[in-house]
Amino acid sequence: MRLDDLTPSTLRDPYGYSLKWHFFPEDVLPMWVADMDFPIAPAIVQGVLERLQERVGYPQMKGDPALLQSILQQQEARGLKGLTPDNLLLTTSVVPGIYASVLALSSPGDEVITQVPVYHPFLNALQEHHRVARYNPLQRTPQGWAIDFDQLESLVTPRTRLLLLCNPQNPTGRVFRRDELERLAEFALRHRLWVMSDELWADLIYEGRHIPLASLGPEIAQRTVTLTGPCKAYNTAGLGGGVAISHNPQILAALARVLKGLGGHPNVLAMAAWRAALEHGQAWLEEVRAYLRGNRDLITAFVQQHLPQVGYWPPEATYLAWFDFSATFGPRAHQVMLEQAKLGLNDGQMFGHQYQGWLRLNFATSRDLLQEALERMARVVQALA
Ligand SMILES: Cc1ncc(COP(=O)(O)O)c(C=O)c1O
Repeated sequence: MRLDDLTPSTLRDPYGYSLKWHFFPEDVLPMWVADMDFPIAPAIVQGVLERLQERVGYPQMKGDPALLQSILQQQEARGLKGLTPDNLLLTTSVVPGIYASVLALSSPGDEVITQVPVYHPFLNALQEHHRVARYNPLQRTPQGWAIDFDQLESLVTPRTRLLLLCNPQNPTGRVFRRDELERLAEFALRHRLWVMSDELWADLIYEGRHIPLASLGPEIAQRTVTLTGPCKAYNTAGLGGGVAISHNPQILAALARVLKGLGGHPNVLAMAAWRAALEHGQAWLEEVRAYLRGNRDLITAFVQQHLPQVGYWPPEATYLAWFDFSATFGPRAHQVMLEQAKLGLNDGQMFGHQYQGWLRLNFATSRDLLQEALERMARVVQALA
């Protein structure tokens, strides 16, 4: 199968292009930054090439009309209804949308709540822009990761302005259920918070169903900005492209003010790739999702059999596995994996300071390379015994 056919020598391109494959020394298997080792859908290549045959002058300010329609259709299918192109603000990628949301919907000194562990730019944006981060650690329960609603309630003060939500959640892979999202929406409304809901991973779900927070009702829709983009599902991170979506035009106007002169107009090739992905990429996406699910299941079976001492809950979404090696290697887990297992993973501390000894592994690679990584991991753990 095509997705099986990957080797480190071809993945480590000779030009030094790939961050993932050129960051660590050559004997290290890199399974960190979140892009896939698979080639992109042929339809995307074709869409980009065709776009280059046309004018590449300034595109329309709001973005290519056909792309905007495809995004609206995608969102409608997910449950975000009643949107028009005026409810979309294209961004160069999703991270600028995260920063713009923080800047537009809170002020320096304001308190902002987020579940942790979480995608590190959430935390960086707050710290770099002098917002006071209030952490709502996800709880480990026998059923997996869960929101601690009592602790969440205790975090609110008169300075709390904003809730940052990641759903599906990076790095735990949780897909929040309707009842959880309803409680979050009720919480945000009762405390008059704005909400940024990063839903970039919504197309890579294995169990459960993606429910956009803003689909839960008109009131929460008025207080929410939803972020998404093509790069996780379609592996186009180097092209960029993102969108901020809101039923509340004032939220989008506030983000646009922050981005003015900095955000830039959307890149025509990114827009062409995104449009091709949405219009013609579904079969590719389904094949890749099924393959990733198989990889997820391989990890689950391997950990049960060979690494029972390691904390791990199978992700319901994403291609990220989140491991607790703190009892095994303590805070040195990342270094041990790098130096002894020759595995390049993400250090858990990036996702919240209390996650020392945790590691994030990107499993969007071939089954052979994943198996090799798991065996390298198991060898260093077993060497301890
Ligand atoms: C939750 C989340 N948001 C945003 C991004 C980055 O998006 P982009 O590359 O479009 O800026 C990532 C990348 O891993 C992510 O996991």
